Amino acid sequence: MREEKGTIRLQECIASDTYRMIIEACCAEDMKPGQFVNIQVEGFSLRRPISISSIEETTFTIVYKAVGEGTKKLAQMTAGQTLDIIGPLGSSYPLDIEENDVLIIGGGVGVPPLYELAKQYRHKGKNVYVALGFQDKSSVFYEEEFRNLGCQTYVATMDGSYGTKGTVMDAIREHKITCDFVCACGPRMMLHAIEERYTKGYMSFEARMACGIGACMACVARDKKEADMYHRICKEGPVFPIGKVEY
Ligand SMILES: Cc1cc2nc3c(=O)[nH]c(=O)nc-3n(C[C@H](O)[C@H](O)[C@H](O)COP(=O)(O)OP(=O)(O)OC[C@H]3O[C@@H](n4cnc5c(N)ncnc54)[C@H](O)[C@@H]3O)c2cc1C
Ligand code: FES
Repeated sequence: MREEKGTIRLQECIASDTYRMIIEACCAEDMKPGQFVNIQVEGFSLRRPISISSIEETTFTIVYKAVGEGTKKLAQMTAGQTLDIIGPLGSSYPLDIEENDVLIIGGGVGVPPLYELAKQYRHKGKNVYVALGFQDKSSVFYEEEFRNLGCQTYVATMDGSYGTKGTVMDAIREHKITCDFVCACGPRMMLHAIEERYTKGYMSFEARMACGIGACMACVARDKKEADMYHRICKEGPVFPIGKVEY
């Protein structure tokens, strides 16, 4: 983990209010899929945590939705400007797994960290199934990118304007995906539905964060089995085995 000034190499809008930003920074060489960076946006004291979506040699990519003041300001930045970042932070998805088949499930802004994961699993020769959930057609992103990695990719939208109508779980049922090892990231309701159906795999959690480096305890979640044990989402997480934390 280091703090450094990264240089924006590309900023583009890829879906409704959703932006892809490529940042050149030395810390790219230490990054693993599932980790995040904490970004200082000018004018705000708290940093904004954003997942690492893909990792190249000297650059990394983030994909984020402009939802509030901080991310809207981030969306106005352009190539050539610099950003103060701390990273990489948190835990990552395991890459050395026994399973040959992996089901990747992403919802909305939970999709980005799963792209680098799918890329690395494909490099290891795994069969990767991908189910992506969005609100509507205008919010869909990275379907083609996952397909180009060689993943069997299915999309669901809540309003039915694209792909399966409903949730990612509906898409998994419709396409009869039977793989039982899951790596997921997305909204709370989606993670609950996954936990009801799957016991093997890993999920990434979101929490409101302050320090982002394990020092303030703002982001803790209780252990599911040991009532007085807590985990910091920013430090021991955001990626945990399925069934590990209460949320
Ligand atoms: C580990 C992690 C990874 C994330 N990865 C992504 C990603 O890849 N793409 C993406 O679009 N979003 C991601 N988010 C959510 C993103 O951090 C928030 O959308 C962003 O901080 C909102 O900032 P804002 O100033 O626009 O919103 P505001 O609502 O104005 O923010 C006010 C404060 O609340 C915090 N906050 C608001 N929403 C969230 C949230 N959902 N999670 C955590 N803190 C929040 C902000 O950081 C800020 O400190 C991630 C969150 C976490 C914890
Ligand atoms: S945000 Fe401070 S410990 Fe996690």
